Amino acid sequence: MATQSYHLYYQITFISTFLLFIPHTTQLQSSQSWSLLRIQHLLNYPSLLSQWHESTDFCYGAPQNAPASVVCYQDSVTQLHIIGNEGTPPLPKTFSMDSFITTLTRLPDLKVLTLTSLGLWGPLSAKISRLSNLEIINISSNYFFGAIPHEISRLSNLQTMILDYNMFSGQVPDWLTNLPLLAVLSLRNNTLDGNLPDSIGSITSLRSLTLSLNNLSGDVPDLTGLKNLQILDLENNSLGPNFPKLGRRIITVVLKGNKFSGGLPPDVGTFYLLEHLDISSNRFVGPFAPSLLSLPAIKYLSIEGNRFTGTLVRNMSCNEELEFVDLSENLLSGNVPACLDPDNQHSKAVLYSGNCLGGTQNSAGKQNPFVFCQNQALAVGIVTPRKEGNTEKKKKTGVAVGIVGAVALGVLLGAILVFFALRRKNARKASKRAPRRLVEHASSAYPSKMLTDARYISQTAKLGALGIPSYRSFSLVDLEAATSNFEKSNLLGEDSYGQMYRGRLSSGTLVTIRCIQVKKGQPTLNFNHHIETISKLRHRHLVSALGHCIEYNLEDSTVTQLFLVFEYVPNGDLRSKISHGEDGQKLSWTQRISAAIGVAKGIQFLHGGIIPGLFANNLKIMNVLLDQNLGSKIRSYNLPMLSENTKAEMHGDKIDIYDFGVILLEIVSGRPITSYYEVQIMRSQLQSAIASDGAACRRAIADPEACNICSDESLRTVMEICLRCLSKDPTQRPSIEDVLWNLQFAAQVQEGWHADSGSSEDSPLSPSQPCRATN
Ligand SMILES: *[C@@H]1O[C@H](CO)[C@@H](O)[C@H](O)[C@H]1NC(C)=O
Ligand SMILES: *[C@@H]1O[C@H](CO)[C@@H](O)[C@H](O)[C@H]1NC(C)=O
Repeated sequence: MATQSYHLYYQITFISTFLLFIPHTTQLQSSQSWSLLRIQHLLNYPSLLSQWHESTDFCYGAPQNAPASVVCYQDSVTQLHIIGNEGTPPLPKTFSMDSFITTLTRLPDLKVLTLTSLGLWGPLSAKISRLSNLEIINISSNYFFGAIPHEISRLSNLQTMILDYNMFSGQVPDWLTNLPLLAVLSLRNNTLDGNLPDSIGSITSLRSLTLSLNNLSGDVPDLTGLKNLQILDLENNSLGPNFPKLGRRIITVVLKGNKFSGGLPPDVGTFYLLEHLDISSNRFVGPFAPSLLSLPAIKYLSIEGNRFTGTLVRNMSCNEELEFVDLSENLLSGNVPACLDPDNQHSKAVLYSGNCLGGTQNSAGKQNPFVFCQNQALAVGIVTPRKEGNTEKKKKTGVAVGIVGAVALGVLLGAILVFFALRRKNARKASKRAPRRLVEHASSAYPSKMLTDARYISQTAKLGALGIPSYRSFSLVDLEAATSNFEKSNLLGEDSYGQMYRGRLSSGTLVTIRCIQVKKGQPTLNFNHHIETISKLRHRHLVSALGHCIEYNLEDSTVTQLFLVFEYVPNGDLRSKISHGEDGQKLSWTQRISAAIGVAKGIQFLHGGIIPGLFANNLKIMNVLLDQNLGSKIRSYNLPMLSENTKAEMHGDKIDIYDFGVILLEIVSGRPITSYYEVQIMRSQLQSAIASDGAACRRAIADPEACNICSDESLRTVMEICLRCLSKDPTQRPSIEDVLWNLQFAAQVQEGWHADSGSSEDSPLSPSQPCRATN
């Protein structure tokens, strides 16, 4: 009977919703249809818009991913994408940029705009600033010329601006700091010149800065203030001479083809997230620090075409993840490190011709005789001062300072790199033929919308949302079909906000559907904003949002109910694989670290991968689910719709770090932790176990099922980071990057230990050995 009434209830709401839905989602305002047709006219009726007619249903008509597409929200265009063919010639003389932009501004809700390879020509009209909702613009590969108009600084919602392959001239604007959300700026291949404005160093929201292929010159302003900057591409300008000052979290640096000279600054050795470093074709001199090869994240390194000196030896160590190394055309001598030799397990490309290297096994390319490098190196030493000194004396001090500086620099760089090298060395101890690392590389997190709409970042970034079906809006019919009319047997649970159902979409995808009763009087504007944020919550380590469905009240058109559709993750929660071991199967130590890394990456995405970030997510081990491959996914995070206060709390990020610490504690101990009191007890046990010099003491705390085969160093690393996460003072808790780094280190150590389990120092101790903790 209950099911029957349910059924009826939903049928009624279905009918009422359906009636309301048609006018809301399928019919574009006629003025906007007119504007789209006018755009077609101004673009000279390109064949890719041949489907556009007066009767076209723009919001539902075009398939996704077509070269021309329109996305609407309610009855207004929010996205317009028209992607022409490469090499489209300029539009005829009669084309008027001003009319074109004026027409565009008649789509006032436009948030995402792609107009590429359409032959648009002329100065970019200042009227573009009327599109006040614009978040992403990509007008690459046209014939825009003149300065980038100052009026763009009024687009306060702008997050991504891509003006690549045009003919914009003048200087890089100094008003970009007025765009508070600007995350991606790409001005590749224009004719910009002059120095970079210092203000570029204060666009704190910036994540990706691409200025390659222009005529920029002079030193790069200090960018250490750009804490979010991950990608810097300055290829082929005339910038220099000093290596840019960058924050430690940088991932990609391309300085190829500029006028950088002198030595590399020592802090490059602290860029622990650096994956891609290309400083080729510059004028760098000084000793090459081979430890660059063993930076913890490095995959791509090119120093080709500089005058780096120094002796390489066979037994240097490299990051196993290296894919490409180009040392060609420098003044290096000695032997190519063995870790760069080709082997069957990794497809590495290594280039080193044009040096003075010997003893290489495969074709080393052309090498110079040793004396050549020796003489050139001496010459490099003498030619250092770039500014012509007035007197002989000045010149000499210049040289002396230069040399001392270079030596000091080298020592410092060496010291810092030794730190990493040592950590790695430990990890790699005897892992010569170790199995491939289980841990994936830190994939940077970006708003998925930016990813799909402005494919701007390297391959690694895309991994974040890889394999998750694209976000869409559902009809109630879809959801009823998926849940057999919300049948009881599909009910997964219920909380104060509403019910949660399991369902299967017509595509076969299993989903979880959350029904949220909307409070009366919740402003609709806020609501759309929340939906926008939810649509970005898509990441490999989150139970990701797949879409939504909105139900309205017939009388006053307010929202009454909201359905959020999420992935369905089949393999149970993390606790059941850690401390309960329901099916008798508990995760091994390696699997535990890997699960923890997944959770940390999910947190990293919630904090930094979307704007604004989501903090204070009330993370719990029960809310970490595992997929078929035991990959972890965070289920319940601070959904904007449900959180009362949307403001980021003080230390919100550090609250999450603490909660993560509690999860880690359970992962290590294998005991369910349910109270603050238990956390305090275990915390102090952990403290003395870490301080103790007996491995047995640590092992006594750890879950014996996981840690009968685990390396003490790996265990201690996890315990240490766990303890730091649980610091009482939030400011003492580590950053999420720090957490990730340590967990990945622990994973490597464990793997190296596996490969080398004969090692006496680390061999498993009998758990019965007494534990004498030093307090
Ligand atoms: C490399 O081998 C040399 C001896 O051939 C030794 O002195 C040096 O310490 C070794 N370096 C490393 C990093 O193992
Ligand atoms: C701009 O849009 C074009 C066409 O969709 C795309 O190929 C290009 O990658 C985009 N540019 C960036 C930097 O994302």
